[in-house]
Amino acid sequence: MIALTLGEIAAVTGGRLVNSDGSETVTGGVEYDSRKVGPGGLFVAFAGEKADGHDFAPAVVAGGATGVLGTRDAGVPGVVVTDQLDALAKLAREVVGRLPELTVVGLTGSSGKTTTKDYLGQLLSRLGPTVAPAGSLNNELGFPYTVLQADEKTRFLVLEMGARGVGHIRYLTDIAQPSIGVVLNVGAAHLGEFGSVEGTALAKGELVEALPPSGVAVLNADDALVLGMAARTGARVLQVGEAETADLRATDVVVDSSGRASYVLKFGVERKNVRLGVAGRHQVANSLAAAAVALTAGMALDDLVTALGEVGIVSGRRMDVFERPDGVTVIDDSYNANPSSTAAALHALAAMGAGRRTTAVLGYMAELGEHEVPGHAEVGRLAAELGVDRLIAVAENARPILDGAAEVGAWRGTARFAADQAAAIEILQTDLHADEVVLVKGSRYRTWDVADWLRRSEEV
Ligand SMILES: Nc1ncnc2c1ncn2[C@@H]1O[C@H](COP(=O)(O)OP(=O)(O)OP(=O)(O)O)[C@@H](O)[C@H]1O
Ligand SMILES: [Mg+2]
Repeated sequence: MIALTLGEIAAVTGGRLVNSDGSETVTGGVEYDSRKVGPGGLFVAFAGEKADGHDFAPAVVAGGATGVLGTRDAGVPGVVVTDQLDALAKLAREVVGRLPELTVVGLTGSSGKTTTKDYLGQLLSRLGPTVAPAGSLNNELGFPYTVLQADEKTRFLVLEMGARGVGHIRYLTDIAQPSIGVVLNVGAAHLGEFGSVEGTALAKGELVEALPPSGVAVLNADDALVLGMAARTGARVLQVGEAETADLRATDVVVDSSGRASYVLKFGVERKNVRLGVAGRHQVANSLAAAAVALTAGMALDDLVTALGEVGIVSGRRMDVFERPDGVTVIDDSYNANPSSTAAALHALAAMGAGRRTTAVLGYMAELGEHEVPGHAEVGRLAAELGVDRLIAVAENARPILDGAAEVGAWRGTARFAADQAAAIEILQTDLHADEVVLVKGSRYRTWDVADWLRRSEEV
């Protein structure tokens, strides 16, 4: 963070100074995990269910932190506010306001925000100091937390924006107004909260509404609901995708046996061959979005093409492909799942599994609301249509996956039900071929144990 005194922090947040005359200066980072606070840092104390951060405040300050931001006097220099999130939002807004040279990039969409943010972190770093921390910091805590990592040296600030309802993205853009906004897709993620894809589009479009007329909206030309957002922005629109109308367009997409896509990138009269470093055909769309931002930020096209082949995903459990010594290839895509991201992962499995046995371990997809049963059935059908050899559905509410697969009469694969992760591991333990490709996907902790077991156990 830029250096601010506790007095300034109190003024900005409307908080009350305690145990301080306001002159102590925060020169380090802002952290809400007491273990991460460094010298000169500001510790944001939350009262959680298990522990109260305020109790750690004296130790954190004794360890070198400048002070504490919390909702009560913790006996050390600090600022007492009524709501930490509101205070963080105000502080973040202040910091952005003091950094006029900063280019703020906002990203939203149903799938691929963190992935594309990771790409952008690596691409934009080649142009200048960039803040794009690993992980999925897209809510009212993670967003200001990310913003607060910017300082006078920062040139690019890449912000992931999540929305679970109308007004959520506007709340975030009010903290830090992006000049470049990217909308990746409007899929079936969090349908439970939104009710419909149109509702999702309404909320996600708030990003492009917030752009200034001098800004750039990067929109997915292959997603009608995203493209429709062009009407909601005064910024210049850059279309990306495989559609003919795309300003930055991928054609001749080929996915090789490592699951990686190559394509011809068309930009104006230019034609460049791109080969991506990350598995999954869906990375084409993510890479185009990141490319559009990089070009807007001033990256030369040839440099961009080279960089696109080198970027990886730094946040874990997203298309994380690893080879075991026994020849088994594992695709750990277990961070999160919805029907569209599962479809993307199944396509990658099919591409990588050509001539090999393929297994999809699919867990429950959370937050689908009314779409839950059909959403699971849909991915089961797709797995069968793609000829996945073995389908393992994990947990009772993932069972409709198997029902969907059963609808595909021509499918010759095996369907297995596992009551929980341990049961899925048991199935794999007793029957895993060398040279097999295994995809593990589900909503977070519900399935990632299986991926971790595959990582640990190398005996067939
Ligand atoms: N363009 C895409 N289309 C479909 N699936 C995708 C796309 N990009 C990434 N995915 C998949 O979606 C899952 C989540 O990816 P990622 O974490 O990048 O998305 P996110 O939008 O940040 O998700 P969250 O809403 O959890 O923050 C991963 O399994 C990933 O492989
Ligand atoms: Mg994310």
